[in-house]
Amino acid sequence: MDNNKIKNRIIKLREEISRLRFLYHVENSPNITDDVYDSLTRELNSLESKYPEYANPNSSIFRVAGEPLSEFKKVKHDIRMLSLNDAFSENEIIDWENRVKKNIDSDNFNYFCEVKLDGLSASLHYKDGIFIKGATRGDGFVGEDVTENLKMIETIPLKLNTDIKGEIEIRGEVVMTKSAWKKLNKKQQDLGKTTFANTRNSAAGSLRQLDPKIAKERNLDFYAWDIAQYPSHILSHSGKHKILKEIGFQVAPFDKKAKDLKEVFSFIKEVGFIRDNFPYGTDGMVISIDNLELQESLGYVGKAPRYMIAYKYPAERATTIVKDISVNVGRTGAITPLAHFNPTLVAGSTISKATLHNMDQIERLDIRVGDTVVIQKAGDVIPEVVEVLTNMRTGKEKKFKMPEFCPVCGSNVEKIGAGVQKSSSSQGPRTRWTGAGARPVAQRTSLNSRLNTKSVAYYCTNKNCPARSRRGMQHFVNIYEIYEIGPKILDRLKDEGLITDAADLFTLEVSDLSGLERFGVKSAENIISSISSHKRIPLWRFLYALGIIHVGEQTAQDIANYFGSLEKIKKAKIEDIEKIPNIGPVVTKSIYDFFQHEDNLIFIDKLFNNGIKIDNSSVKSGFKLKDKIFVLTGTLPSLSRDDVKKMIIKEGGRVAGSVSSKTNYVVVGSEPGSKYDDALSLGIKILDEKDFLKLF
Ligand code: IVH
Repeated sequence: MDNNKIKNRIIKLREEISRLRFLYHVENSPNITDDVYDSLTRELNSLESKYPEYANPNSSIFRVAGEPLSEFKKVKHDIRMLSLNDAFSENEIIDWENRVKKNIDSDNFNYFCEVKLDGLSASLHYKDGIFIKGATRGDGFVGEDVTENLKMIETIPLKLNTDIKGEIEIRGEVVMTKSAWKKLNKKQQDLGKTTFANTRNSAAGSLRQLDPKIAKERNLDFYAWDIAQYPSHILSHSGKHKILKEIGFQVAPFDKKAKDLKEVFSFIKEVGFIRDNFPYGTDGMVISIDNLELQESLGYVGKAPRYMIAYKYPAERATTIVKDISVNVGRTGAITPLAHFNPTLVAGSTISKATLHNMDQIERLDIRVGDTVVIQKAGDVIPEVVEVLTNMRTGKEKKFKMPEFCPVCGSNVEKIGAGVQKSSSSQGPRTRWTGAGARPVAQRTSLNSRLNTKSVAYYCTNKNCPARSRRGMQHFVNIYEIYEIGPKILDRLKDEGLITDAADLFTLEVSDLSGLERFGVKSAENIISSISSHKRIPLWRFLYALGIIHVGEQTAQDIANYFGSLEKIKKAKIEDIEKIPNIGPVVTKSIYDFFQHEDNLIFIDKLFNNGIKIDNSSVKSGFKLKDKIFVLTGTLPSLSRDDVKKMIIKEGGRVAGSVSSKTNYVVVGSEPGSKYDDALSLGIKILDEKDFLKLF
């Protein structure tokens, strides 16, 4: 970006962040999630620190924060209410530890970790043990007097369980449980009122109700995290928590004293597995130096203490810029647009691309090259664009146009569906593609006649397009579970003339591969042994691998279950196929057509000649974990590794030794190995023992 662009981007970011802050703090009606807000703020901070010439300390975003609503009485805090610096990775926590060590010249200290509750902070004043006054944080110096509302919270004791005389100040988090938030939103919706984006917003909105009766109905909860002016006999942060409990408060329900960062990280991971099941929202872990004397000597920097840091669990949403929109040609010839982004960290993995599926999606989102977008990746969900931040537009964004010619083979692109059916003739040879087989057939059926889909789709009209046969072959090896062969090896085998179609794979020998440049004997042996151990295949997978148009996993199972043998399927007439449950006329015709074409039959025969055997014993579907690939790491609390393996295999799943993009689940116990990190970086779904058992 040139300097002018950077300056404009900074201005746009400030305006948008400021608008969101106003919505959040003043209107109580945010229309965007915290992750998005945080992501924009992070970008602004990083641009401002890289280009200090454009930084503006008086920028509006720093002023709107936490302004007390005018209707509430303002309260000046005796001691400023601080906030915490965030860490978004283990490395950032390590950097923090290094800063701490530099400042105290010692590495002999403990950490105290406590779950970071996602609510709003409040300060409570007690005189001679009696609750007298409470306030929100506001801007840290001045908050709002919400005493009457705080009194409505059952978990705020009106009288402390102590004889202490004089005034003490307790600080903590006002939260709302997920179930209370859902109930509240339902009610708000029924009344046609604004709903709340998350538990934090609903807790904040409820505490700021002028009418305490409403606050009472909202079922708020309070967890204490600090005693602001503590008696001198308390020596540690964990000690404060102990006292807080004794005098009648709830404290963060998950905490741990840790002797080093290794223990801190494993506690973060442990809580990471279960936090979705907590009744309240959590967004991280607060890590403190436990010893209060050390805390004092570390002091503060800006508005945050040096002795504490807030680790934030990976955001499931973030903002990024669309650098380009390209297209991909799939195994059925479908052309799908793909958005390219500046690499962005979302839910623990770096996202640089996401499919936009089709033109409908592009038009619905009105996504343009240059747009700032919200991307999402929750758990095992494939990354997707959920929203375009149109306020961030500069006017230079470019609309996407579907190419008229296939980017791979140059043939015409055909638009199908939604009643707009432009037919165009193929520029490539008039051939029929057999999916996994690459032999051309001298006949071409119009895709228009085979599809009756309502949404618009674009197809490469060349049935022999190299991109299509490449994808078809990759699909084939995936279904045969020959995971040792990836797209690069397939290309190599084709380029070297060792295979012309997928059936040729089964004739390969170790010497064919080990003779190739940069190909070791060991990897050649692995590939050949994988190929030969995957020659037996259940009927439904045999069908699925053929790449028959419209025959996905489920349809292939339905066909296999209905007919029971390939011979019957081959002989089936349209009337027979029609009888398969859940199959409509378009799919019926596609299946029938496939088995009418001689070249497809030749390809099937070639598979059998090369040693493929259909395993009719496993025709039946219905295994709970059918074809799901598991990887195990760490020790589970009650199940042994063998138990877990047996359970998976019994239900049709597989256990693999390492994590790859094909892995469906990684089962993680205590002290996991690098497989756990691999799972995180690939965004594979992680299960603890409880989650694993739920699968059964
Ligand atoms: S200790 C200097 N402990 O997180 C502030 N804060 O992002 C000391 N929070 O302002 C805070 N759970 O509102 C602490 N267990 C916890 C917390 C917690 C939630 C909030 C608190 C703070 C914010 C900082």
